[in-house]
Amino acid sequence: MKNRQRIIKDLKEQIDENNLPKHIAIIMDGNGRWAKKRFLPRTAGHKEGMERVKEIVEVSARLGIKHLSLYAFSTENWKRPEQEIDGLMKLLVQYLRSEIERLHKNNIKIKALGDISKLPSLQRKEVEDAMEKTKNNSRMILNIGLNYGGRDEIIVATKNILKDIKMGKMNIEDLDANTFEKYLYTKKQPDPDLLIRPSGELRISNFLLYQIAYTEFWFSNIYWPDFREEHFYQAIIDYQKRDRRYGGI
Ligand code: IPE
Ligand code: IPE
Ligand code: MG
Repeated sequence: MKNRQRIIKDLKEQIDENNLPKHIAIIMDGNGRWAKKRFLPRTAGHKEGMERVKEIVEVSARLGIKHLSLYAFSTENWKRPEQEIDGLMKLLVQYLRSEIERLHKNNIKIKALGDISKLPSLQRKEVEDAMEKTKNNSRMILNIGLNYGGRDEIIVATKNILKDIKMGKMNIEDLDANTFEKYLYTKKQPDPDLLIRPSGELRISNFLLYQIAYTEFWFSNIYWPDFREEHFYQAIIDYQKRDRRYGGI
């Protein structure tokens, strides 16, 4: 057996299958720096990053992860040069077109987190079609953050709650964490147990602000295009050693 395969096998055996995180969130970061290090255009980093998306989605489903949330494009990423945004949008369509059949066959449901009405019409249509096609799948939910911002999500939720109160569909007294969550993009899904951020940045960058109240964080200096199956397993192994107290003792 090759060395890397042995490492993967060893790590996989260390994972306690009875204590898997139900929901893993990943801030896929470092594509630009990965490319820069190789004197390549930033888009080359995004392209390689897409290969890691395929890998980690497959590994997650095989392992039995029920919810995987990938941050692909934030509400702040519109600040980037038009050319880079175009490149990212093209990759999104490429990803969906090349993967949708396999995802569907593997019983994976695709969900967009974020306001996709602001995406270019082609991208919006591809995402909507993918969600429609896979809506009854049940093995794993693959959430993709697209024009996602945690603050935006909370504000949208608040507006919708106020509308429902105004229309008499809800009483102010009935508003609690349980009802609030029904207005989030992640409705009906558990909060992330584990949040992975590669690339060396130690911040949240507006991802799942409400949902990460008791999430375990795992940071690493690896750039996303270098983030492989073995790193994913290592994050889960480390997670399983944490003592989650939720404010208790
Ligand atoms: C993450 O990589 C991809 C997106 C944010 C879309 P970056 O493009 O942020 O890469 P760095 O952080 O500049 O290296
Ligand atoms: C976070 O990465 C957003 C995504 C991975 C989609 P950024 O590269 O945009 O975050 P900052 O700017 O380093 O905080
Ligand atoms: Mg970045």
